[in-house]
Amino acid sequence: MEVVIERMTESDLDGVVEIEKAVFADPWPKRAFKYDLSSDYSLPLAAKVENSVVGYASVYFVMDEMQIGNIAVAPGFQHRGIGAKMIRYIIDEAKRLKIARIYLEVRQSNENAQKLYLKFGFVISGRRRLYYSNPTEDALIMVKEIS
Ligand SMILES: CC(C)(COP(=O)(O)OP(=O)(O)OC[C@H]1O[C@@H](n2cnc3c(N)ncnc32)[C@H](O)[C@@H]1OP(=O)(O)O)[C@@H](O)C(=O)NCCC(=O)NCCS
Repeated sequence: MEVVIERMTESDLDGVVEIEKAVFADPWPKRAFKYDLSSDYSLPLAAKVENSVVGYASVYFVMDEMQIGNIAVAPGFQHRGIGAKMIRYIIDEAKRLKIARIYLEVRQSNENAQKLYLKFGFVISGRRRLYYSNPTEDALIMVKEIS
């Protein structure tokens, strides 16, 4: 299976929103993804197999940091290395752009995602109490320093 990671485009949006609704209880609306396409402070990514979206990541630039605001893989394509490929791509971009660190928030109960981030050298650096709703839950803040 060949997976290509590239910048998200307008024609990817319907596929992205379909995955977003399938994997999250509190999905982002289409307009949020659309806004990111033209923002200078965003790096919206799509992972594609045979030109169809199977995953995506919403990355933001904040001063000398990157934030991964959203990342997901379609249920039928999970645990086949696509999330890892997107994280590797983001880390490579951070190095290329001389970014100091990458951070993200993750639900405390989302152990699969945490495992993925730990594998790439992210560490837990803090907690935001009751950050998520539906269900209400703390967020763990995870950070990777780029050297
Ligand atoms: C989290 C997510 C993005 C990971 O993407 P993925 O393509 O499924 O992950 P990969 O196949 O690249 O797996 C990389 C590592 O993540 C962990 N992992 C991912 N899915 C896992 C699962 N179902 N069970 C156990 N570990 C898992 C493992 O450590 C895995 O490494 P391994 O294959 O050596 O065991 C994806 O599962 C997903 O979309 N989940 C739902 C949405 C979500 O939770 N997003 C993150 C919000 S912070």
